[in-house]
Amino acid sequence: MKVIRVENYEQVSENAAELVLREWQANRKIVLGLATGATPVGFYRQLIERHREEQLDFSQITTFNLDEYYPIARNHQQSFYMFMQEHFFRHVTIDPARIHILSGEAADVEAECSSFEHRIAATGGIDVQILGIGQNGHIGFNEPGTPFRSITHKVILTDNTIQANAHFFAEAAEVPRHALTMGIETIMRSKKIVLLASGKAKAKAVQQALHGSVTEEVPASVLQNHPDVTFILDREAAAIIGGESPYAPTGDSCWIEDNRR
Ligand code: PGA
Repeated sequence: MKVIRVENYEQVSENAAELVLREWQANRKIVLGLATGATPVGFYRQLIERHREEQLDFSQITTFNLDEYYPIARNHQQSFYMFMQEHFFRHVTIDPARIHILSGEAADVEAECSSFEHRIAATGGIDVQILGIGQNGHIGFNEPGTPFRSITHKVILTDNTIQANAHFFAEAAEVPRHALTMGIETIMRSKKIVLLASGKAKAKAVQQALHGSVTEEVPASVLQNHPDVTFILDREAAAIIGGESPYAPTGDSCWIEDNRR
């Protein structure tokens, strides 16, 4: 696994955008796996800025989002569908037909999950999957204990995750109790995975994901088994992973650790 350590959140976002744009320049029809939550907001902001400044045309990109609450109306202010519109899609030239987000309104959940898997497969697979990480090591909404062999499925959210997301809602009681999420195997099939983490609340999960044992109790630890993973971490998120690295003053010259096994 590759670890890019930078000073702060802004540099995490810049590095992630730079990495994705490099991949996009090599393949305009790139299939991106996208994430929601607080962490990727700066990454989307960077992409939007670069799109404006350099008149980038993202119309051939296909996107798959990691997850969506269930049940939730598509136009609910806190749905991940709305999150993606607000933070990314409505600011760039992107083809709505190429945007895939699990439906929080699906009556037949199994059909929705299986159609999502088929749509990913039909594109040839996800080229670059962006991930955040939960304080409990979750990726997507795959909570501790989720089988590594899981594909897209419905989950019950843990209290930890409900509390962590409660600030987006008027109160914790409003957070949906379920979600639909890509499974761990779905994520692991991506050709390249980029995990972003910022802030000290993520330090322990990052340490366990990178250097802990590979266990279903820490979903992100599965990434140690993937051939092409990059963690982009700020100082606080990287605080307990060890190593004596100089921190990069700017986003474009950063220290890289390669601990690939
Ligand atoms: P966050 O969520 O970016 O809002 O911290 C990350 C995650 O739970 O995967």
